[in-house]
Amino acid sequence: MTAFKSGDPTTLNRLYGRAKGKPLRAGQQDLVDNLLPQIAVPAEGAITAERLFGYDRPLHFEIGFGGGEHMAARADMLPDHGFIGAEPFVNGVAQALVHVAGNHGAHPPLGNVRIQHGDALEVLRRIPDGALSFAYLLHPDPWPKARHAKRRMMNDGPVDLIAAKLKPGGEFRFGTDHPIYLAHALMVMRRHRHQFEWLAEKAKDFLVRPAGWPETRYEAKARAQGHEVWYFRYRRR
Ligand SMILES: C[S@@+](CC[C@H](N)C(=O)[O-])C[C@H]1O[C@@H](n2cnc3c(N)ncnc32)[C@H](O)[C@@H]1O
Repeated sequence: MTAFKSGDPTTLNRLYGRAKGKPLRAGQQDLVDNLLPQIAVPAEGAITAERLFGYDRPLHFEIGFGGGEHMAARADMLPDHGFIGAEPFVNGVAQALVHVAGNHGAHPPLGNVRIQHGDALEVLRRIPDGALSFAYLLHPDPWPKARHAKRRMMNDGPVDLIAAKLKPGGEFRFGTDHPIYLAHALMVMRRHRHQFEWLAEKAKDFLVRPAGWPETRYEAKARAQGHEVWYFRYRRR
């Protein structure tokens, strides 16, 4: 297991997890070498829609996009919006680049996606407060042992950061199939109820994937294993 420095003790001290898995295929390596530099989030300075996309537009931010299928499907659905995704796992970045490049004819190349190969929180801190319309945290690494609870992305520091970056009325979407993470997340989000309103009226609202919420790879795997999946939509107050 690799541990990365993340650099902000008020959020997550370190970025835990895999950085690299199987060697990339030649086509994926080519995308990492040639497409990624064109659509990478700038290494320094404020990150605004104007800077990334040339003009102001609603901004979406996905933390830990895995293989990028949710981010790409959302970007395809909302071509006038801008999408920023962060993922430290290079194989995931390479898969996301395949989606951005054109997804085998399922959709044209996506011009509205920018990628950070690295820590989501480092980028999130550089987005001006109140600039995001949507933030996504889908199937974060569960870190199920109690002694690792601080490593979970759903904790006070990251949630405060997400709250700061969302505009009033903006939406935070969170999904998991992990019962321990679910309980932990509900506890954390309850502490943040001054910032977020949980948009659930009935059980169906968190048991059934909402419209406009494309399935992620982990979600599909979880369902294939017979797990229940829970969906949470929170509106920034
Ligand atoms: C269980 S996977 C889920 C991936 C994807 N969201 C899905 O649902 O298929 C969790 C992902 O979060 C990523 N991750 C962990 N810490 C992160 C961080 N600080 N910033 C960005 N991504 C992170 C991991 O590399 C991993 O790909």
